[in-house]
Amino acid sequence: MGEIREAVRDRYANKAKAFGADAGCCGSDCCTPAAEETISCGQAYETGELAEVGLDRSISLGCGNPLLLAGLEPGETVLDLGSGGGLDVLLSARRVSPGGHAYGVDMTDEMLEVANSNRAAAGIDNATFLKGTIENVPLPDGSVDVVISNCVINLAEAKGPVIREAFRVLKPGGRLAVSDMVELKELPSAIKKAVDAWAGCISGTIPVATYSRLLLEAGFQDAEIEVTQEHDVEGVGGAIASAAVRGRKPASSGEAGAT
Ligand SMILES: C[S@@+](CC[C@H](N)C(=O)[O-])C[C@H]1O[C@@H](n2cnc3c(N)ncnc32)[C@H](O)[C@@H]1O
Repeated sequence: MGEIREAVRDRYANKAKAFGADAGCCGSDCCTPAAEETISCGQAYETGELAEVGLDRSISLGCGNPLLLAGLEPGETVLDLGSGGGLDVLLSARRVSPGGHAYGVDMTDEMLEVANSNRAAAGIDNATFLKGTIENVPLPDGSVDVVISNCVINLAEAKGPVIREAFRVLKPGGRLAVSDMVELKELPSAIKKAVDAWAGCISGTIPVATYSRLLLEAGFQDAEIEVTQEHDVEGVGGAIASAAVRGRKPASSGEAGAT
């Protein structure tokens, strides 16, 4: 395992162990972007929707709410890349019921345990948490209607393979609806090189233009990246931001490149 992936796995294994003890993401470090901290905005969820899945507080480690972008419908199949404690998967499972299914994929055993225990507590039976990486998702080609993700793609060492993998598992006409962090101003090289800051969703961010190019190169149409909240990092005002990322897989091969 590479140094970055190992640091990411360790960080989220520890976060998983702390769930229940410090109210998940929204402990004291929520939205306080020191270089070594996680930037996370669990407030993106309404109390009512948390109650839908039996929670009285957010367990999000995300930087937005991808469900607001996804427009889920009953009967659809959803995949969450880097599902963490499972909040977005459980909410998706409710939205796609009856007839639909929500999958989460995560590489961290401790997170999968938390997610499965949250699923059982909520009594949800149309959600499945899979062990795997977002670079090599354990689902067949063209098997899901919607790919969501919340503050995970920035953690990948290379974003291109992750975006291509999202495209692969989507059915023709399928949608990408992602909350992620992006880089608005070049970060100091000391921060860019800090593994802790990478695992904290800071150093692995890429510029909006690079993200858009990767979406187009993978084959997505209607790619759109909207900055939703700026964050400061160690004196670099507005250096990084939460963003809403959308795209659509062409409905047929004839549609590809026809924008
Ligand atoms: C910042 S947390 C976000 C969790 C969840 N999406 C949420 O909003 O609460 C990042 C999650 O992604 C997982 N993760 C990071 N890189 C991954 C990779 N390459 N493959 C699979 N899971 C990954 C971590 O284990 C962790 O659970």
